[in-house]
Amino acid sequence: VATPDLAGRHIVVSAGGTREPLDPVRYLGNRSSGKQGYALAKAAAARGARVTLIEANTGLPDPAGVDVVRIGTAVQLREAVLKAAGDADAVVMAAAVADFRPAEYATGKIKKSDDGGAPTITLVRNPDILAEISADRALPGQVVVGFAAETDDVLANGRKKLQRKGCDLLVVNEVGERKTFGAEENEAVVLAADGTETPVPYGPKEALAETVWDLVLPRLRPLSG
Ligand code: PMT
Repeated sequence: VATPDLAGRHIVVSAGGTREPLDPVRYLGNRSSGKQGYALAKAAAARGARVTLIEANTGLPDPAGVDVVRIGTAVQLREAVLKAAGDADAVVMAAAVADFRPAEYATGKIKKSDDGGAPTITLVRNPDILAEISADRALPGQVVVGFAAETDDVLANGRKKLQRKGCDLLVVNEVGERKTFGAEENEAVVLAADGTETPVPYGPKEALAETVWDLVLPRLRPLSG
């Protein structure tokens, strides 16, 4: 039985991958299964927190005792995170968020042209939710945690991302077509804004989730009341 060291806390976790619609039948998406985010949500609930899990396109069953909010796109994820973060002690962004979305949504299915050409899809930037909530904390002392999904120069890119995003902790993990995405295991280094770096060896996503909460715990603001 887990120690209820997150009792009295409201924790927000995002999980899964956003999908950016092109037309009624197509979207731009990514390979996130939501397993890492769900492991975080379940572990926080087991440690006594009230948990809001904002999920994007995972198809996973709702974890017991967790409030689940379902969204589809990055813009919808931003709205849901800002709303839930209002009274949250910590926000963890494990979702894989599309950095770009199609500039236009075609209301009918995009057709092949007779001349054999292919359409050009113009993209626009999506909001950077993690950078926004880190810069503009809903509550003083709110702890903000991001993930960095990297394919090359994993640690160096992670360190730069920590600076850029301005969060308190950044969980750096390597990803590939079959690496981390959809897997039961993960391997990471958790970078902290105070310069400490905590390697987490290859193992179940549940074990990484526990380490994240162990690192969040001493950074939480004192419980009020
Ligand atoms: O879901 P699984 O199959 O279990 O896989 C887990 C995972 C690989 C998805 C997860 O461990 C992970 O790395 N999640 C973050 C994926 C991601 O979007 O990484 P990024 O390096 O592109 O983004 C960095 C951080 O900024 C993330 O916390 C992301 O949520 C956030 N972000 C990114 C873009 C954006 N527009 N807004 C954001 O808030």
